[in-house]
Amino acid sequence: MPPSGQVAGPRTSPRGRTSGVTALTNLRRALARTRLAPLVAFPKRAARVARHDARVVGASVRWLFTSREHTNYTYDLTTLNRTHLAWYVAAVCDVPVASVRDWFAELEGDEELRGHILATTATAARRGLADRAVRYGRRLGWYAMVRARRPAHVVETGTDKGLGTCVLAAALLRNAAEGHPGRLTSVDINPEAGYLARARPWADVADLVVGDSAAVLSALESPVDIFLHDSDHSVAHERAELRAVEPRLAPGGLLLSDNAMHTGVLPSYAEKTGRRFLAFAEKPARHWFPGEGIGAAW
Ligand SMILES: C[S@@+](CC[C@H](N)C(=O)[O-])C[C@H]1O[C@@H](n2cnc3c(N)ncnc32)[C@H](O)[C@@H]1O
Repeated sequence: MPPSGQVAGPRTSPRGRTSGVTALTNLRRALARTRLAPLVAFPKRAARVARHDARVVGASVRWLFTSREHTNYTYDLTTLNRTHLAWYVAAVCDVPVASVRDWFAELEGDEELRGHILATTATAARRGLADRAVRYGRRLGWYAMVRARRPAHVVETGTDKGLGTCVLAAALLRNAAEGHPGRLTSVDINPEAGYLARARPWADVADLVVGDSAAVLSALESPVDIFLHDSDHSVAHERAELRAVEPRLAPGGLLLSDNAMHTGVLPSYAEKTGRRFLAFAEKPARHWFPGEGIGAAW
């Protein structure tokens, strides 16, 4: 009998079961030190991978039968990822995170823009390959950065349908209404690009240019306050765009890249040119696509 006040051990468990559990724990510890360990852990590891892959396969199958998009996918961000994006913009632009959240809400509450995107998509020549939904993903961050920095000139390379172009133009229109006007140049090599961005009021502040982005950047006349690379995502082309835009950047200009999850071009460039760099990785909600990101150098 233990002296009174001392704990006597697991009295509620039968002695046999306790020693069985201890023996199993000891066996597991012993096995973990041997070459058999990966084999013993295999069923548990395989079950975890299978659970993860089943979720991806489920989302992929759902998407195959519910979406029409074949490239440049659109999606919402997870709630947590959106929080991370707000903090990312706050850090890059040195503004309160509450303002960034307000700008996110401003874009998402812009019913005129939402209605325009839905209506134009429904009648567009490429409507068979576009979803009847408005999902901005990381473009929320682009919008907030334009609202935070109030640039006089934004340049986007890679227009595609014009979703990002409309988002950037909407931010410029809000800035103008507050006394800070600005213009957007959006460049695409495809003359059919930009069908969403040809309507007013967005077209009032957006110039759609057809051509190779590196060549167009080299011929720009007005200084660039925010530059966004989202065109040919090869390393060589991203570098060529940065080389072309550098002499045209306004003092303190912000460089953004949509290639941040694929190349190290912008972080290397930031280091070489004495800038800071931060990357944000998207996490799409209910989608198989792992997401893109935003790289920022300033
Ligand atoms: C990913 S999409 C752009 C997406 C767009 N920024 C958005 O927010 O949805 C890439 C676009 O870059 C264009 N592109 C590819 N190579 C290019 C080049 N050398 N110069 C200009 N545009 C190019 C393509 O035609 C395509 O429309």
